[in-house]
Parts: sequence; C-alpha cells; structure tokens
Amino acid sequence: MAEDGTPPALETRGLTVRFGGRAVLDRIDIRIRRGETYVVMGPSGCGKTTLLKCLVRLLPPTEGSVLVDGRDVAGLGPEESDDLRRATGMVFQNGALLNSISLRENVALPMRAHLDMPPGVVEEAVRMKLAQVGLLEAADRMPAELSGGMRKRAGIARALALDPRLVFFDEPTSGLDPVTSDGMDNLVLELKAALGATMVVVTHDLPSARKIADRLVVLSRGRALAEGTWDEVQATTDPEVRGFLDRHAEPPVIGEGATPLVGAPGGMA
Ligand SMILES: Nc1ncnc2c1ncn2[C@@H]1O[C@H](COP(=O)(O)OP(=O)(O)OP(=O)(O)O)[C@@H](O)[C@H]1O
Ligand SMILES: [Mg+2]
Repeated sequence: MAEDGTPPALETRGLTVRFGGRAVLDRIDIRIRRGETYVVMGPSGCGKTTLLKCLVRLLPPTEGSVLVDGRDVAGLGPEESDDLRRATGMVFQNGALLNSISLRENVALPMRAHLDMPPGVVEEAVRMKLAQVGLLEAADRMPAELSGGMRKRAGIARALALDPRLVFFDEPTSGLDPVTSDGMDNLVLELKAALGATMVVVTHDLPSARKIADRLVVLSRGRALAEGTWDEVQATTDPEVRGFLDRHAEPPVIGEGATPLVGAPGGMA
C-alpha cells in the first residue's frame, strides 16, 4: 500500500517463471506506483523481458502472482480482462509494425479493432498520436521506409492508440546512436508528463535509466537484487549489483573531475 492507502498500480508477489525446470524469474516481489516510470535493469539473459511479459500477461507465472491495482490478474473475469488489455500499451523492441500497411494505418488498427469511432475521429486521433511522437510528417510512409529510431517511435504511437494507463517499453534505446537514444529518453519523459500513465521500461542502458527512472530494480539471474531510486540503488553494496553498475557505467571523462594518470602529483612524470 502507498501512504495514502491506495494499492500499487502493479505488484508482483513471489513471481516465479520456470522454463524446463530452470527458474528464469525467482520469487520476484516488486511494487510499481501509479504514475511513476519504473525501470527494469540487469545483464542480458537475467529475465527482464520475461518479467515484462508477465506484467502484460503474455506469459502466465509458474508460481506467484501479478496484481494490478491490488487485484490478482489471474482472478479477473473475461470482461475485466479485456478492459485491462485495452488499458495496457506495449512497445516492442523493434516496433512490431505490420509491414504491409502505412504508419497511419498501423496506428489506426487498434482503434478500429477496439473503439466504435467514426472514421473522421479515428483519423484525428491517429494524427494526435503521431504528433505526440514527432512522426506526423511520416504518416503515409511504409514501415520499411522508416529509420530504426522512427520505427521505435512509431511503435510507441501504436502502443498509445487506446490511451493506456499502463505503458510498457522493452529496450526503447537499444540499437540507437547516443543522440537518437537521448531523444527517445526525452520522449519518454514528455509522455510521462503528458499522459500521467504508469510506465515500465526495460533497459540495460544506465544513462537512460538514470534520466527517466523514478525508481528502478536491478535483476540478476532471475532475482531482484536492488529496488529504489537511482541514488538508493547506487548506494547498494551487493557485489552482483555493483558488478553490473560498474561494468555499465560510462568511463570518467579526463578533465571532468577524474584524476589524470599522467602528470598528476605523484603520478608518472
Ligand atoms: N520461452 C522460453 N523458453 C525457454 N527459455 C526461455 C524462454 N524465454 C526466455 N528464456 C530464457 O530465460 C532467460 C531470460 O530471458 P529474457 O529474455 O527474459 O532475458 P533478458 O534479461 O530480457 O535478456 P536481454 O537483455 O538479452 O534481452 C534466458 O536464459 C532465456 O534463454
Ligand atoms: Mg530482453
């Protein structure tokens, strides 16, 4: 429970997933507050995508539970389940666009499938979503005509089509150059301000995590080893967490507080 007595937007209790007897997620207990950006970090293969799949209910837990607004999703009826699916937007790593239709049509698709809106209203809503991710100009392009960064933005526009209150991103900055990657972080921050949605972002990009996370969790070999704000997680002494953070930290830039190796007092002359 939060201080005001409301349950977390998302929570896992003893969440365990096994593949062929091997625990890929091992008794994960996390709490994601309403309206926060929660980042899931950890080395490759530690179970980040698997956790995301459980949170969006693409994958049922082997043991334990996922709760949305305090309710176990396993106990939802078909109608509630459908409502929750609509309230959930998922941004896949590669955008997961349909290649045979234009960007505009890709974003319109979920609206046509789920909402009873006249075509003119759909058209306007699509324009809004594309404008939100800076792709209005590219509305009539086919997915193959988009750059990697644009494709990721397009995936976001589509995930936002139904005005979700829960938005999940799998590696939004992977494969992007540092400048485009920073633009993506800014977009996530803008969306947070504009939508007020609860966002869960999987990344192994430390600078990105630092920039966007309200709180974050570090996974390692299926266990949640540290959870908290950036500063709290940085203060952890757990050797596995330290190993991950130190390996992925950016090297210090000489001249910005780092000690030069050569020419320093006591250094090599
Ligand atoms: N459907 C599956 N069947 C069997 N094993 C799986 C399945 N999905 C994932 N795994 C295994 O579970 C482990 C965690 O995978 P997951 O994709 O969650 O890792 P990740 O943290 O997202 O890694 P990356 O950073 O490389 O994306 C890996 O060892 C993977 O091989
Ligand atoms: Mg992954």
